[in-house]
Amino acid sequence: MSTHDEKTFIPYGKQSINQEDIDAVVRVLKSGWLTTGPEVASFEGALKKVAQTKHAMALSNGTAALHAVAHALQLGPGDEVIVPTITFTATANAAVYVGATPVFADVRSDDMLLDPEEVRKKITKNTKAIFAVDFAGQACDYHSLRGIADEYGLALVSDSCHAIGATYQGKPIADWADMAIFSFHPVKHICAGEGGAVVTNNDLWAKQIRRFRNHGIDKDVRQRQEQGTWYYEQVDLGYNYRLSDIHCALGRSQLAKLPKWIEERQRVAKAYAGYFAEQTGVRPLVAHKDRSHTYHLMIAVFDDQQSRDSAYELMRAHQIGVNVHYTPVHLQPFYQNNYGTGPGDCPVAEKLYDRILTLPMYPGLTQEDLERVFDLVSNVVVQPNNISKAG
Ligand SMILES: Cc1ncc(COP(=O)(O)O)c(C=O)c1O
Repeated sequence: MSTHDEKTFIPYGKQSINQEDIDAVVRVLKSGWLTTGPEVASFEGALKKVAQTKHAMALSNGTAALHAVAHALQLGPGDEVIVPTITFTATANAAVYVGATPVFADVRSDDMLLDPEEVRKKITKNTKAIFAVDFAGQACDYHSLRGIADEYGLALVSDSCHAIGATYQGKPIADWADMAIFSFHPVKHICAGEGGAVVTNNDLWAKQIRRFRNHGIDKDVRQRQEQGTWYYEQVDLGYNYRLSDIHCALGRSQLAKLPKWIEERQRVAKAYAGYFAEQTGVRPLVAHKDRSHTYHLMIAVFDDQQSRDSAYELMRAHQIGVNVHYTPVHLQPFYQNNYGTGPGDCPVAEKLYDRILTLPMYPGLTQEDLERVFDLVSNVVVQPNNISKAG
């Protein structure tokens, strides 16, 4: 049951679907191929162009993409994977799926991105990989992370679910990482309904991931049909993590709009920056000059928990769908109960967790919508003239 009025409700993020997207899906529905057909290859081709990689593999969602990466890297029991605690739980869960152990590292307080110095502190002889997360749409400090990964012989994976199209020092993120993954869930930059992908330049990992998404089988139905053979071999243990042609058609149609939408998000971010510059008591995350930020999320950091909580309540009461990204994963009961994590492990993230609020951010957010958001935030923070309007 919906508790908000759809006409006035402003969510923190949402998809936009136009007639072109609908036509693309209808075309597939009328074609002979609903899955493992030509749209999958076309979508993957478009993804390769965006990521500037040799390979792109579409999978059923971002979580499956992370699982496939963990499998391709042959992570298993006894191996440790360093994960930032500020992320969606799926990043850490991928290590657990293959029997490896996620080790949580703290983030930096200015940008909430994985802190390379904290990564260094967590490395042991069992560490095999770093799963970095381009939180909120901004690339991590890949210069430092790549250096650490190379120094210790670790795989560097970028969970770029928030940051498709982002760059670091002028290069796509997939240039810095060994593999990068994306999600096409409706709140993400481009929407396929559900969907995910892995991009890489590594031929072997690409081959393993293609098999992994198809039960570990070496040929899919279309390849068998083209080769006129019924014969296939299951050479590995895999899953059904395929993404249908219906999803891929929607994803490809959406992907064509990515540059325009990133620009739109940057326009909205500029409006927020102008507003925050005039405020005390609340700030945005730092956006670094050497990165192009794709603004999946707009995070506000309040000076104290009380004003964050008041803002949350007030904005919810006024039909603004604010949220909190994320509960630090090391505080999730699953990890506390099974991996012995707990309060105190990542103090920077824990402190931020009490003070952050995710404000609306998506293409098409109007100045009028933004004014509604700004007015409500101003109601709970102490104004520069020191007169609090809270209450
Ligand atoms: C950082 C991050 N990683 C992984 C995922 C998982 O993606 P999906 O929902 O497509 O499985 C998400 C999605 O919310 C995410 O935000």
